[in-house]
Amino acid sequence: MLDDLKWYVSHDLGVNVVFTYDGGDLIFERMMNVPTDHYSIRVKDKITINYSSEASLFYAMQSLKQMVVIEDGMISIPYCSISDEPKFQWRGMHLDVSRHFFTVDEVKQYLDWMARYKFNRFHWHLTDDQGWRIEIKKYPKLTEIGSVRAKTLIGHAGSSKEFDDKPERGFYTQAEIKEIVRYAKTKCIEVVPEIEMPGHARAALAAYPEYSCTGEELPVAETWGVFDHIFCSKKETIDFLQDILGEVIALFPGEYIHIGGDEAPKTNWKTCSACQNQIKVNGLKDEAELQSYFIQQMGAFLTKNEKKLIGWDEILEGGLAANATVMSWRGTKGGIEAAEQDHPVVMTPGSHCYFDHYQSDRSTEPLAIGGYTPLEKVYSFNPIPNELSGNKRGLILGAQANVWTEYMEDFDQVQYMILPRMVALSEVLWGTNKDYKDFLIRLKNFEFPYYDKTETPYSRAAFYVQSDISTSEEGIIIKFTKDDGSQNLQISGNNKKSIIPLGKNKLKVNRTPAKSKVKIQATSGTSSNADTVTLFILQHSTLGAEWDLTTQPSSYYSGDGAFTLTDGIIGRRPWNGKEWLGFDTSTIKMNFAFKKKRNISTVNVGFLQAETSWVHLPNQVIVRYSKNGKRWKEATSSVDSESTKLKLNKKAQFIELEIVGDFTIPEGKNGAGHTPWIFMDEIWFDSTDKSRFRIFKRN
Ligand code: ACM
Ligand code: ZN
Repeated sequence: MLDDLKWYVSHDLGVNVVFTYDGGDLIFERMMNVPTDHYSIRVKDKITINYSSEASLFYAMQSLKQMVVIEDGMISIPYCSISDEPKFQWRGMHLDVSRHFFTVDEVKQYLDWMARYKFNRFHWHLTDDQGWRIEIKKYPKLTEIGSVRAKTLIGHAGSSKEFDDKPERGFYTQAEIKEIVRYAKTKCIEVVPEIEMPGHARAALAAYPEYSCTGEELPVAETWGVFDHIFCSKKETIDFLQDILGEVIALFPGEYIHIGGDEAPKTNWKTCSACQNQIKVNGLKDEAELQSYFIQQMGAFLTKNEKKLIGWDEILEGGLAANATVMSWRGTKGGIEAAEQDHPVVMTPGSHCYFDHYQSDRSTEPLAIGGYTPLEKVYSFNPIPNELSGNKRGLILGAQANVWTEYMEDFDQVQYMILPRMVALSEVLWGTNKDYKDFLIRLKNFEFPYYDKTETPYSRAAFYVQSDISTSEEGIIIKFTKDDGSQNLQISGNNKKSIIPLGKNKLKVNRTPAKSKVKIQATSGTSSNADTVTLFILQHSTLGAEWDLTTQPSSYYSGDGAFTLTDGIIGRRPWNGKEWLGFDTSTIKMNFAFKKKRNISTVNVGFLQAETSWVHLPNQVIVRYSKNGKRWKEATSSVDSESTKLKLNKKAQFIELEIVGDFTIPEGKNGAGHTPWIFMDEIWFDSTDKSRFRIFKRN
């Protein structure tokens, strides 16, 4: 243990000091009858470590290492008394090595980060449509063919059709897998391998098309998304996958095997005679029950081999397999449902745990899949949902961050996306996420210097100048803040008339009858360390005036509530959650009233089209309008693009908006069968009226 500490000081911190220590005074005492993985450290004239398990001794050493202070070639450890234990037993980090491959050394570095922050489950996403990354001796083509993707999309799947012509290849031999499992064990980390089924199977089926429904020969997938070409549910495929699981089980000594289960369109199952025969022979109702049957076959096989099955929350559909653990990713709903059925749950909702989402709203962020999961949001996560009844709460094993790597081409980018968000998640999992401001200070003083010293890429987004927009009587108020409380931001803009200062770091922009664009910048610091936030505000006739939402947005994409639709901020692409209101209903209704009737020439509504994320344009916008709130008329526009303009040319005081989309995503598209999302960013009116619009105040 002392050697471990010495190694850290000389190697990780890169400091050459003579490490003298009177070994007799480093005392380790094993404790009984304390919570799992509890440890304590006392540093005074000697260092005393009390621990309850092998893991807790390891965690104590991690904490001790982080306390090392180096000054003038001397190292010291401050006097302290620490008593610590994890709040949750599942403290996970996931890594997708299919979309991009990471070497054995890089995976070990990932495990090093996990160890530093006391995570204990490495969810290794080894197979997907775009690459099969684990050697299976019985089926060599899985890696010969399945581990090579001929080319990769450049840019975002929502907009790009351009490819590089660089093959992405790589897999881990069984010897390498064993080495990683061994290495993880030295860090008290259990590796949870994931073999995806029945969906996300294109790489496997490129090698063995006979295990699909159609037998069609398709290449390893070259774009991102969800594909209809999935494993067939016939006996031959189940045998094939159980053979694979047999080899996987022999490699991974841990408790759990993850079998995926997410995003498996049933398009091909519906027309496949073998699948339909499975439904008939096994007395199943439909394809959802067939998926459940399929997963149950895997569950039974794993149980026989003394392993536990874990899968994404879709495994709830058609009935959960006995003893299955559910990983809840589409929000916490699936997790709640599973716990209510007495199944254990790991929480990984997109809203707080998807580290492939953007971590700042700056346009300078490197390309990401979309979504918005800033540091503070991660820090605020509570893995135990309030809705869950008391006696089921113990079924929440913990939480995990998911790191999908479509848009992370190299390990530098992976580190940028996980640091420092995984530190915030660690505090969630150890139950120390009490004070975000204090957390930021600790990050800045202890972790960031370590990242700098080790030349590790990481995000400083939490320390950028932040803007906060709120509604006001006449428009919007923008307040700029800096975590360090800097008072003297320099604020500038292109449209001086519109920008009305309200003190040092605050200004307002009022409504105008005529639409215009206002650019506002706030800068903190001087040229060498300047940080600038730039806002583009669409100044319009109803800026800051909130619609009354009859239909509520999803709690996952609730932006700033109704105000999101009139805050003057046009959402960027790829979408970034904060700028949008997201609805998971196919009809949305809202209304609005002016103080008196106004001339309205057009109604403008901004939507998002991001079908790979299941976000679709609606079909229609219906505007109902009235001069007196009694007699109403109606105008309708079809929605053909992200900006819909409905020509009205009428006088009205009261407006009701109805937006109508599809009930389900059509076959052949990502998320087929689910309700599509409708995302909106801004609504405004064009008018020929010259005076300012006053809005009727509701309660
Ligand atoms: C997932 O993000 N498809 C589990
Ligand atoms: Zn089939």
